[in-house]
Amino acid sequence: MKTLSLSLLLGLSFYLLFAPLTYSASPSETTITVRVDQPGVVPTQFGIFFEDINYGGDGGLYPERVKNRSFEFTDPLMGWTRLTRGDAQGTLSVRRESPLNTNNLHYLRIQVDQPGTGIGLANEGFFGMGVRDHQSFTFSVYARSLEANPPRILVELEDEEGHILAQGKLDGVTHDWKRHSCVLRSRGAHPKAHLNLLVQGSGVIELDMVSLFPKDTWKNRPNGLRPDVVQLLADLKPAFMRFPGGCIVEGRDLSKRYQWKTTIGDLAERKLIINRWNDEFKHRPAPDYFQSFGLGFFEFFQLCEDIGAEPLPILNCGMACQFNTGELVPLDRLGPYIQDALDLIEFANGPVSSTWGARRAAMGHPAPFRMRLLGVGNEQWGPQYIERYTRFAEVLKAKHPEILLVSSAGPRPNDELYDFLWPKLRELNADIVDEHCYDRPAWFLDNAFRYDGFERKGPKVFMGEYAAQSVKVVSPENRNNWECALAEAAFMTGLERNADVVTMSSYAPLSGHEEGWQWRPNLVWFDNLQAYGTPSYYVQQLFCVHRGTAILPIQVQGQPPPSSTQPGLYASANYDGLTGEVILKVVNSAPESRTAQFQLTGAKQIARSGTVIVLTTDNLTDENSLQAPRKVAPVSRRLPQTGASFSYACPPYSMSVLRLRAD
Ligand code: AHR
Repeated sequence: MKTLSLSLLLGLSFYLLFAPLTYSASPSETTITVRVDQPGVVPTQFGIFFEDINYGGDGGLYPERVKNRSFEFTDPLMGWTRLTRGDAQGTLSVRRESPLNTNNLHYLRIQVDQPGTGIGLANEGFFGMGVRDHQSFTFSVYARSLEANPPRILVELEDEEGHILAQGKLDGVTHDWKRHSCVLRSRGAHPKAHLNLLVQGSGVIELDMVSLFPKDTWKNRPNGLRPDVVQLLADLKPAFMRFPGGCIVEGRDLSKRYQWKTTIGDLAERKLIINRWNDEFKHRPAPDYFQSFGLGFFEFFQLCEDIGAEPLPILNCGMACQFNTGELVPLDRLGPYIQDALDLIEFANGPVSSTWGARRAAMGHPAPFRMRLLGVGNEQWGPQYIERYTRFAEVLKAKHPEILLVSSAGPRPNDELYDFLWPKLRELNADIVDEHCYDRPAWFLDNAFRYDGFERKGPKVFMGEYAAQSVKVVSPENRNNWECALAEAAFMTGLERNADVVTMSSYAPLSGHEEGWQWRPNLVWFDNLQAYGTPSYYVQQLFCVHRGTAILPIQVQGQPPPSSTQPGLYASANYDGLTGEVILKVVNSAPESRTAQFQLTGAKQIARSGTVIVLTTDNLTDENSLQAPRKVAPVSRRLPQTGASFSYACPPYSMSVLRLRAD
């Protein structure tokens, strides 16, 4: 060992005694020692981060098949094309007189001059409409007509070859706006069908909120969510869900910010806005990307409850995205923004006798959602953020001390914005600070020890957005490969070991449509009919599922601390009080197998065999795909010959989770 100064030696001995992980290079063989009799704090909560980016909401989790159902896009006929059958003649126009309501100002008028066999329009859906064989859909539309014999509405689901997969019709349109519906059942499957809507008969008919919604949603709820995507999320067993983002919370300017109150209640009254990812990237334009808010705050809370995730809503704090306009609400006009936060707490937790609690009950959920966490702003920075956070915190802490506030550390984990924010947030005694890390895999391998020396007192860390970028952040060439996932796994052992500081973490973004993405990598990918998890998904799942109830001190000897230039073993250890098992997570970043000798000390007895779950693949460039969704996926097997001391060979480029019963 090199000569060390006295203070360094003193510091090192303190570290060896109290830090949750130590590394030492002295013995020739790697030894991993775990103190089973010293359970510490509860492990980090690994959760998920939802944002409507990459058509993750409209066109994804929210399975409405009709794009621009309310004719409220900037181009009110975007997604629709005119359709004429036989010698039909007439005009289609978008109008505003006597609209459905003041949040839904446009509707379609079809004037039939000569009926032929039908006149109307077709909707292309989101990259087409996914249809399964024998799948049932509810078609619905708001309609009105002043005609004595109002025209009939005929609807068809048609595939790209012109086969009609399903048909339905509606009669009896009245003078006033009224919702009409029928069921369509498909006789065939197609990933890219479209919807034809034709009126048959003469005269004028007006239409709005044209919807084709699958019946087989998550829990079969009307206006429910896409079940295969929700199942993937449920299978992660996330501890919490952050929603609704991300930059969409902020908006490019304040008029486009996310306002939760416009996302609840009657679907026809939810006020659509442009999605801020619509025109964010020149290289991936998405001119038809809007937020219908069919998936709104009530549905988010409900989803959290369904999948056992604690809700973590993030609200705008009076600042538009600082990468765009950075528009600010003057401090003396922040009142309505703070009131939105107070009202949200009441919506989530208030009694049904309260104003907002009654709104929740009216939507079908009288019981409170038991929200405990609330984010003030997304990825904000500068003194402007501190001023606004302070105003929010003063009011919220006075009225709701039970709510933990999440504040922002800016867009990067190590720059002058971060260095400005952290001391200020410490002074303000902030609860939880949200850090964002998008960087190359090497950064994650090099930063697995980032929190070992972190200040223990003061705010906790929420590693709220992170993902290894195979090329660079926002590059369209980024891949969800095993190299990235492995680096994230190594990094996450560091989050877990430091659970006393890093109390929460979530990968970002959550999901992307194979044809509609703006940002990659993502945790989950889907097309119109299928969805799959990436290697990063399985890393997250291993940490979520094998979380246990307390972290255990761990020491790795026989190798220097691994890094991007010096591959090796990264490790963390937990105890699961529910099953009585020790959980060891070991990530081998080396291209060859590495054997470690495990020493489990302080237990009366350790089982002679256990289980090991291994996530690995031969090539760092391997990915999952729609065609091979489990190419990189965990494999479980019995682990023989364990005990208080045993050896285990960590496969090349692998993550292993070892579970052993211990008394
Ligand atoms: O996850 C994608 C984006 O990255 C988020 O919207 C934003 O918070 C961050 O910059």
